[in-house]
Amino acid sequence: MKIAFVGKGGSGKTTLSALFIQYLRQHKQRVVAIDADINMHLAPLLGYGELVDSTLYLSNPENIRDIKTTLKGSNPRIKELAHFRKSTPPGHGSQLIDLSNAADPLLSRYAIGQAEAPLLTVGSYGTEGIGVSCYHNNLAILENMLSHMRDGNTIVVTDMVAGTDAFASTLHAQFDLLVLSVEPTKRGIEVFKQYQQLSEEAGVIDRLRVVGNKARSHEDAQFIRDHIPAPFLLGTILESAHLREIERTGEAIAIEQVEDDTCRLMATIADELKAHRIDADTRLQTLHALHRKYVGQDFITERFGDLTSQIDPDFSYAEAHA
Ligand SMILES: Nc1ncnc2c1ncn2[C@@H]1O[C@H](COP(=O)(O)OP(=O)(O)OP(=O)(O)O)[C@@H](O)[C@H]1O
Ligand SMILES: [Mg+2]
Repeated sequence: MKIAFVGKGGSGKTTLSALFIQYLRQHKQRVVAIDADINMHLAPLLGYGELVDSTLYLSNPENIRDIKTTLKGSNPRIKELAHFRKSTPPGHGSQLIDLSNAADPLLSRYAIGQAEAPLLTVGSYGTEGIGVSCYHNNLAILENMLSHMRDGNTIVVTDMVAGTDAFASTLHAQFDLLVLSVEPTKRGIEVFKQYQQLSEEAGVIDRLRVVGNKARSHEDAQFIRDHIPAPFLLGTILESAHLREIERTGEAIAIEQVEDDTCRLMATIADELKAHRIDADTRLQTLHALHRKYVGQDFITERFGDLTSQIDPDFSYAEAHA
């Protein structure tokens, strides 16, 4: 199962991701954390140190080559590495990431932290990327990794970059649940409406949920209830004394010190995620449709020819080996 925390800058994506991860760890649920934010703040909240070694960033060009080579495996439908685009789906011969296995080649090479809760980091702009690239180019390698994973019973928790990058790519289709964190402000509600519209257009509106965050009072929580339609709203988090304290000390989130209401909300998110679990092979059909659309664009066909043959109609995650 895969969940992404999305939303406006500063609304609490990283905090919610970390709270949810710490909640899952407390309940002995295996989790793979992915920091896909330009501001990489997940590691300290999980107790994994202040900074992630930049040589481990998934979006480093040499790491991209290594990851694609690994995922490609012996898939004959990918003629050369340059043809491995962000929407390229797995096929026979692809080497999938085995999330349940800490010794998985890519997890062991690129993740930090506890074996039961490894953290992958997409990374910031490389110096060569400044001015010529935008962050969603960095997210392409994340798209490849997400589409080449075996779900199993591991929960993948992604702290997404602010904004709506998820809708410019295959990302929206890769998650079972998108949780938007919304502050009790006019701007927060506007961002919700924007996500609502984009999710509708992308056909994933049933997977969009909202958590109100940074409510200072019960009036703030009421404001969220007044403006977010009930079917979307999972609950609202009040400003937390523990979260403020660790902001000062730089310590990890200690889930046993988090307010009860917030922990109950984490349980609600976990239940909601289970209820929305999408069968991997069903999701694959969507990924195939997105691939056809993406590689049908002129700039791809002119450069690489017809890449629709990368779709392997007989591939199934259920039968594939890790
Ligand atoms: N419920 C809360 N109680 C107290 N402080 C909070 C709460 N939620 C978030 N914060 C604080 O608000 C700030 C922004 O939160 P956070 O970093 O999680 O947002 P973000 O959406 O990930 O931001 P960015 O877009 O910069 O990545 C942080 O200092 C965080 O500690
Ligand atoms: Mg963040």
